Amino acid sequence: MSGLKVLSVASEIFPLVKTGGLADVAGALPGALVREDVDMRTLVPAYPAVKQKLGDAETVHEYADLFGAPARVIAGRTGELDIFALEAPHLFDRPGNPYLGPDGTDWPDNARRFAALARVGADIGLGELEAFRPHVVHAHDWQAGLVPAYLRYSGRPAPGSLITIHNLAFQGHFPASIFWELGLPDAAFTVDGVEYYGGVGYLKAGLALADVITTVSPTYAREIQTREFGMGLDGLLRTRAAAVYGILNGIDEAVWNPSTDPALEQTYNPLRIDMRGRNKAALQKRLGLALSVDRPLFAVVSRLSGQKGLDLLLHALPRIVDRRGQLALLGSGERWLESGFADAAASRPGSVSCVFGYDEKLAHLFQSGADFILLPSRFEPCGLTELYALRYGATPIVSRVGGLNDTVIDSNEAALAAGVATGVQFAPPSVEALSDAIDRAFSLHHDPAAMRRLRLNGMRADVSWRGPAKRYAELFRAIARTAA
Ligand code: ADP
Ligand code: GLC
Repeated sequence: MSGLKVLSVASEIFPLVKTGGLADVAGALPGALVREDVDMRTLVPAYPAVKQKLGDAETVHEYADLFGAPARVIAGRTGELDIFALEAPHLFDRPGNPYLGPDGTDWPDNARRFAALARVGADIGLGELEAFRPHVVHAHDWQAGLVPAYLRYSGRPAPGSLITIHNLAFQGHFPASIFWELGLPDAAFTVDGVEYYGGVGYLKAGLALADVITTVSPTYAREIQTREFGMGLDGLLRTRAAAVYGILNGIDEAVWNPSTDPALEQTYNPLRIDMRGRNKAALQKRLGLALSVDRPLFAVVSRLSGQKGLDLLLHALPRIVDRRGQLALLGSGERWLESGFADAAASRPGSVSCVFGYDEKLAHLFQSGADFILLPSRFEPCGLTELYALRYGATPIVSRVGGLNDTVIDSNEAALAAGVATGVQFAPPSVEALSDAIDRAFSLHHDPAAMRRLRLNGMRADVSWRGPAKRYAELFRAIARTAA
C-alpha cells in the first residue's frame, strides 16, 4: 500500500513542548517516515506554548461539549511537522509543565485531560476529518492509552492501532469513578478492557486493546515481560507477547549534529575531533569549573528522578573528584536530588557544578564538551541522551539495562581488540559497580589513543531514524485499515 496515513497521538512534541525523550521521538519520527511513504500527522493538546508556536491555524473540527466545555481541533504546520492541536481551554490552557500544576503535583483532572486527547485521537481515526483519514493510529504512553479503547468500543470499523511504551513507570491509573465520564459502554469496564485493579488503567487499556505494542528497545521489550521490570503489567504483556516489538529510537540528525550545531562554541566532525576541546573549555567556563584540558569532565543531562540512578552517582562522586575529575550536571526534577547535588557542588567548588532547570541549548553544549556522559539508570526504556553522546563524541558510561544495553558497546577486552567499543557499561546499577566503571573511565582517559578510538566509533555509529522508521512502517502496513 502506498501513501499510508498515520495519526500519532502524543502529549508532547519537540519543538513545541518537551519534558523528555517522548517529545524528541514524537517530533522526529514523522520526518523519518517520509522516505517510507508514510504521512504521519500528530495530535497534541493545545497548551499555551503549542498555540503560540503554531500561530495561524485553521479549525478543522468542533465539539459542543468535550468533557465539560466546548473544544475544537486546529490544524497547522511547524517546520516539517503537520500538527492537529486540541484546543480545549478548560483542559489545556495552563502554563508550565504539561502534567504538573504550580505545586509540582499532577493536575487533579489529568484523567479527564488525557481521556479527551484520546477521545479526539480516536474520532480522527474513525474518519471524522474529511481531510485526513488515517489507516493507523499510533498512541504514545498512558496519555494516549485510551485511544485503542475508544476505537475498539466505537462499534464502527476502526483503523489499526499501535501503542508505544516509552516508560512503564507512568501508567495513568485512576479511580473507577472516572469511568462514567469516559463515554465508553459498560462492557469496557472489564479485565479485558479498561478496568485495572478496580479502577481505570489508561496504559493498561492501550496494552490490552491495541493491535500492536511497541517499546523503545529490544532489551526493554524483554525486561517489561518480567516481574522485576514489569511494574505490575508484566502478566498482561506476557499474554500479548506475540504482539510486542522492541524498536530502538533514533535521533534527529538535523537537530543533533556537531558539525552544524549553533549551540556549540565550536562545531566539529570526526576528522576534527580535537576541536571538541574548545567546547570543553566553554563548558568549564560557563559552569565555573576550573579550566583544564587534562582533568576528565564527567557530565549528566537528565531528569532528576529515581529512574535515572543519580543517587548512586552522589555516593560514587568521591571516585571522580578525589582523582581530580570534574562533574557538570544539568537537570531538573525531584528536590532531594537537587539538594544532594547542590551540596556536592558547594563543598567541591571548581570540581562539581550544577545547573538546575531545563535548558535545551545548554544540553547541546554539555554533549559537545564533556569527556564522559553518565547514565547510571535503574531502568531505561531507550535513553536518547547516550545516543546524543555517541553522536557528539562524548563517551557514555551506562548501566546495562534497557536501551542502554542495546546502544552502547562496552570497552571490554574483546571489543577494544576488535576496535568497536563505544563506551563503558556496568551492572548492576549499584554504587560499587558505578564506582568501578568510573575507575575504568579514568584508565581509558589515560590512554589518548584508546579514547580517540572510542569517540570516533561513537560518532560513526548509526543512531539515525532510518532503520527504526523502516520497522515502524512495516508494522503500520501490517495493521493498516481504513475506517468506513
Ligand atoms: P527521558 O525521556 O527518560 O527523560 P531520554 O534520554 O530519552 O530520557 O530523553 C531525555 C531528553 O531530555 C534528552 O533530549 C535530553 O537532552 C533532555 N533533557 C533532560 N533533562 C534536561 C535538562 N535539564 N535540560 C535540557 N534538556 C534535558
Ligand atoms: C522515556 C524513557 C526513555 C526514552 C524516552 C523516549 O521517557 O524514559 O528511556 O528514551 O521515553 O522513548
